[in-house]
Amino acid sequence: MAAAEGGHLPVMLSEVLDALAIRPEGIYVDCTFGRGGHSRAILERLGAEGRLLAIDRDLEAVAAAGASGLPGDARFAIEHGRFSEIGRIVGERGWTGRVDGILMDLGVSSPQLDDARRGFSFLRAGPLDMRMDPSQKTSAAEWLAEVSERELTRVLREYGEERFAGRIARAVAEERQRRPIATTTDLVRLIEAAIPFADKFKHPATRTFQAIRIAVNDELGELQQGLNEAVEALAAGGRLVVISFHSLEDRIVKRFMRDEARGKEMSGGIFASRSTPRLAVRGKPLKANEDEVRGNPRARSAMLRVAEKRAP
Ligand SMILES: C[S@@+](CC[C@H](N)C(=O)[O-])C[C@H]1O[C@@H](n2cnc3c(N)ncnc32)[C@H](O)[C@@H]1O
Repeated sequence: MAAAEGGHLPVMLSEVLDALAIRPEGIYVDCTFGRGGHSRAILERLGAEGRLLAIDRDLEAVAAAGASGLPGDARFAIEHGRFSEIGRIVGERGWTGRVDGILMDLGVSSPQLDDARRGFSFLRAGPLDMRMDPSQKTSAAEWLAEVSERELTRVLREYGEERFAGRIARAVAEERQRRPIATTTDLVRLIEAAIPFADKFKHPATRTFQAIRIAVNDELGELQQGLNEAVEALAAGGRLVVISFHSLEDRIVKRFMRDEARGKEMSGGIFASRSTPRLAVRGKPLKANEDEVRGNPRARSAMLRVAEKRAP
């Protein structure tokens, strides 16, 4: 498939469409519009009565939807917001318990990564911003100016699996006494100087940038909350389809689907009990095939999981 408008190739598109099991008259929510690659393909399968609501926390994604003419399609709507608010967003349309499929394609889009002004990429000189939603209060530079050395070490270790977390956090704490760490280049230089040796296959700033991005955007909190609310929004038989790009996200999705399929353990009282299972896991987790990975390196780490809402 050719690059979508704005240069983002939708990942695992045919697998997503199969997993959503689209009904032409169904109601669908794309929680991560990006540049609309998945949304457009969903719309192609919907009939005149079908509905697709897209969400994105990035105003540029919402503007791209406008520029593409999609809002002219009466079956389509887009909202600027976080998918952790999907309960409210769907509720306002009277769709709670009526949604047939929900897609989350996590992480950042190619246009976000490629735009130096957004500060997501260690390969591009720009302000150290990293906010998916630039109207959000705290940028990466502001976060880095305030965070304690101890918390920064934890974030780099847990969200970046960075083995030199302590050294990098120390270097940040020392550097910010002298001058603010304001740009991507400031941070890359600091990391390069702080680590004793670099991984052969990874840029030394990869893990730190990932970790800070996750913290600044509260990506794991968003995911946990979004999954929870998504289940409430679904109709019986509705599908929850999630593509994650690193092991921390995938672990949250896997555990969530497993727990919801077994029923969650409830503590308290003398007897341990389980809540009624809300989901059934559908199929095995899928990875992108080799052909796709050759054409789109971003697909290499993608992992797709699917669950179905059970009847109450
Ligand atoms: C990987 S891209 C999605 C690409 C899209 N599927 C496509 O085909 O163009 C992820 C998008 O989700 C958005 N996003 C990430 N976390 C979000 C959240 N918690 N709430 C809403 N949007 C989010 C990002 O701003 C980004 O535009």
